[in-house]
Amino acid sequence: MDYTKLRKWSVPITTSKRVVALVSIVLLAGCGSIYTADAAQEKSKAVNTLVVHADKGKETINRNIYGHFSEHLGRCIYGGFWVGEDSPIPNTRGIRNDVVEALRKIKIPVLRWPGGCFADEYHWKDGIGPRKKRPTMVNTHWGQVTENNHFGTHEFLDLCEQLGCEPYICGNVGSGTVQEMQHWVEYITFDGKSPMANLRRKNGRAEPWKVKYWGVGNENWGCGGRMRPEYYADLYRRFATYVRDLSGNQLFRIACGPRRDDYHWTEVLMRETQHMRKGRMAGLAPHYYCGSGKVKRPATQIDEEDWFAQLQRALFIDELVTKHSAIMDKYDPKKTVAMIVDEWGAWHAVEPGTNPRFLYQQNTLRDALVAGLTLNVFNNHCDRVKMANIAQTVNVLQAMILTKDEKMIVTPTYHVFEMYKVHHDATLLPVELQCEDYRFAEKKIPALNVSASRDKAGRIHISLCNLDPGKSSVVTCELMSVKAKKVSGRVLTAKAMNAHNTFDNPQVIHPVAFNDFKLKGDVLTTTLPAKSVVVLEIE
Ligand code: AHR
Repeated sequence: MDYTKLRKWSVPITTSKRVVALVSIVLLAGCGSIYTADAAQEKSKAVNTLVVHADKGKETINRNIYGHFSEHLGRCIYGGFWVGEDSPIPNTRGIRNDVVEALRKIKIPVLRWPGGCFADEYHWKDGIGPRKKRPTMVNTHWGQVTENNHFGTHEFLDLCEQLGCEPYICGNVGSGTVQEMQHWVEYITFDGKSPMANLRRKNGRAEPWKVKYWGVGNENWGCGGRMRPEYYADLYRRFATYVRDLSGNQLFRIACGPRRDDYHWTEVLMRETQHMRKGRMAGLAPHYYCGSGKVKRPATQIDEEDWFAQLQRALFIDELVTKHSAIMDKYDPKKTVAMIVDEWGAWHAVEPGTNPRFLYQQNTLRDALVAGLTLNVFNNHCDRVKMANIAQTVNVLQAMILTKDEKMIVTPTYHVFEMYKVHHDATLLPVELQCEDYRFAEKKIPALNVSASRDKAGRIHISLCNLDPGKSSVVTCELMSVKAKKVSGRVLTAKAMNAHNTFDNPQVIHPVAFNDFKLKGDVLTTTLPAKSVVVLEIE
């Protein structure tokens, strides 16, 4: 084989024994073309190789990598999660049943709230007590709409209980005080007698909640106060000191991380918090949106140039995680500080005719590829990345769910999260991938993207993204120390690059059984469509 033209992605491994199973994966030229594997192999000389070190895994893929984010923005909370108890839309204590049911299916592990930029102007005491008496405020970031505070602390924690997920609360540093955040922690978690705990009881909740994850501000380099890292680092140290571990509730304190490639921010935060590591800075939270390019278009109005550019920007997350991790390693070689990518995703122009500040966008097969490759990157960096929260859960940016009054649909991105849930808390298996480039005009990116894991029952799952919308290629894969007895799979793809679900046609794109493979001895030959996300299960 001539690999000189192939791009190599690998996770370093030291191994000697090799080759138990050989898997050939053939990528098809176009969606809908059905070749036999042999025919495809004959037709294409291009070869991709994948080695899955099934004998090597040691890191666990934290299920919180599959986390979510919800903000008081547009229709994420109001109309998305919350309809109120008197709504004709079926609800439990005001929270939509259909949305809860859909998110339980993907085993949502953690939900971040109340922002986002909103967090740094949110005053939590406005959102407790009898709803009719709660004061209103102006949501200055997101359309200057009136926020009635009907969805507050009790409602959010009720939502998390209904979802069966961990809450992650982001405190207000930009326009709040240390005391305000300290009181919030006391209100929620203290089981003794205190002004805040007594207030909680008065508002109908006798027992404290357990809330582990607390963010100290959001994007404090931007909407959270336009701070310099040196200034924020000092503020962080102060806030993190006064928010207390109460009644056995140990806080996981998360500092605002850098924007994109602001490596200076990471350097300063890691340096200035070194002395207070133990329990005082458990996580650092970078943000990265892969945008929609210079010509911002609505999600569905794309051509191949947009497709290519979007995926190229999405792949940049690998470089970001690698470089920020390297800085963190310098100060924290034992990796005690988690990288918490608590906002990520595709940010397109809003759907025509909708409020530009509500960030309502459709979600296509392209977004599914963005999700698939990004989750693969996080899986492969799970030694450092312990949580990630896609923005945002319902009706905002790269959403799982879209609602329109009583109607609800799930998006291609939702389906990727559903397919990838096999990786939750599984052992990461190091992979080596050599693959062809997907070329567009003068540019190129690797055509394939992969991660693999072994679950507690011993099953191996390989999630593969074929980013190329129309080119065939061949992959041969070695699975170390594993003899495949049974293989099954699921695929998410469609004929059109912009395939998406609508309220009138909610099943345009969804995963289906994938069985275009042959297992012969130790050789699995399989055919994958172009522009697809595939998850293989090997027993
Ligand atoms: O998710 C939308 C916004 O993007 C968030 O409020 C902010 O943190 C980020 O800039």
